[in-house]
Amino acid sequence: MISAIHAPVLCSQRIAHSSCRSVHLRPMRPLLLAILAGPLIAQTPVTPFQAEKARTLLRTQLPCLGCHELGGDGGRIGPSLTTVADRRNAAYIRAIIEDPQRNVPASAMPRTPMPVATRELVIRYLTRAAPAGVAPAAATVRGVLSSGSSSSAVLYQRWCAACHGQSGGGDGPNAKYLPVHPAVHSSAAQMSVRSDDALYDAIAGGGLVMGKSARMPAFGATLTPTEIHALVAYIRTLCKCTAPAWSVQESRR
Ligand code: HEC
Ligand code: HEC
Repeated sequence: MISAIHAPVLCSQRIAHSSCRSVHLRPMRPLLLAILAGPLIAQTPVTPFQAEKARTLLRTQLPCLGCHELGGDGGRIGPSLTTVADRRNAAYIRAIIEDPQRNVPASAMPRTPMPVATRELVIRYLTRAAPAGVAPAAATVRGVLSSGSSSSAVLYQRWCAACHGQSGGGDGPNAKYLPVHPAVHSSAAQMSVRSDDALYDAIAGGGLVMGKSARMPAFGATLTPTEIHALVAYIRTLCKCTAPAWSVQESRR
C-alpha cells in the first residue's frame, strides 16, 4: 500500500527526508551539547503534575499526536516528540510550534491555534531537557504552499493524504497510528450527509471543536479560506456526491 503511492512518506520509511534528517545525528548531539552548552540547558522546571497535564492535553485535546509519536502513541508524519530534545534546542522547538511555516516553509505541520497557557505548557514540557539555543532565523520564502496558486488536488496530497489517503479512502499510511479512523472522503454515504459548511468547519477548526477526534488538525491558521473552500469542493469530487438538499437551499436563501 505505502510503496505504490506518492502520498507523503513517513519518517520511519524515509529518514533521508528533510523532516527526518536529524535522526542520524541523535547519538552524537546530546553528548556534544551537554559538553558545549551545559550551562545553557533550558531546564525550566516542570512539576510532575504539569508534565502529566501536558501529556494529557497532547493525547486528548491537541492534534499534535495525529502526526507525532510521544511515548509510543501517535502518528509518524513528523519526527518523534519523545526524542525531540535530543535533536533540537528550546528556541527551535518554540519557534516551530508558534509558526511552523516561518521556520520550515515546506513543512507539513499546520499552525495550531491554542490558548497561550496551553501552548506555554506544551513548550515547557517538550523543551524541559533541551539546550536553550538561539531562535532560528525566519525562512525567507513564505507561504509557498498557501499561495492560492496550488490546485485543490495538490493541497489535498500535501496536507491530507497521509491520513485520509490519496483518493480519500481513509487509508493513508498514517491512518493506522490514529485511534479514530480518518473520515472516508470518497464515501458518498458518509459525505452526502455533511453540509459544505460542516466540512469547511472541520477543516478550518479541526476535529475537537466539531465533537470529533482531536487528532484531525485545524488548518484555519495555515490555509486561506479560498484554499479551504477548494478542499471542500475537492472532497465533493472524491465522493462524487453533493451536499444534502436542506443545506444547499439554506445557503441560497
Ligand atoms: C499534520 C501533521 C502535524 C501536526 C498536526 C503537528 N505537527 Fe509538528 N511537525 C510535523 C512535521 C511534518 C514536522 C517536520 C517539519 C520539517 O522539518 O519539515 C514537524 C515538526 C515539529 C517539531 C520539530 C521536531 C524536530 O525534530 O525537528 C516539533 C517540536 C513539533 N513539530 C511539535 C508539534 C506540536 C507541539 C504540535 C501540536 C501543537 C504539532 N507539532 C502538530 C507535522 C505535524
Ligand atoms: C493527522 C491525520 C489527519 C490529517 C493530516 C487530516 N485529517 Fe481530516 N480527519 C482525521 C481524522 C482522524 C478524522 C476523523 C475524526 C472523527 O471522526 O472523529 C478526520 C476528519 C475530517 C473531516 C470531518 C469529516 C466528517 O465526517 O464530518 C474532514 C472534512 C476532514 N477530516 C478533512 C481533512 C482535510 C481536507 C485535510 C487536509 C487539509 C485533513 N482532513 C487532514 C485525520 C486527519
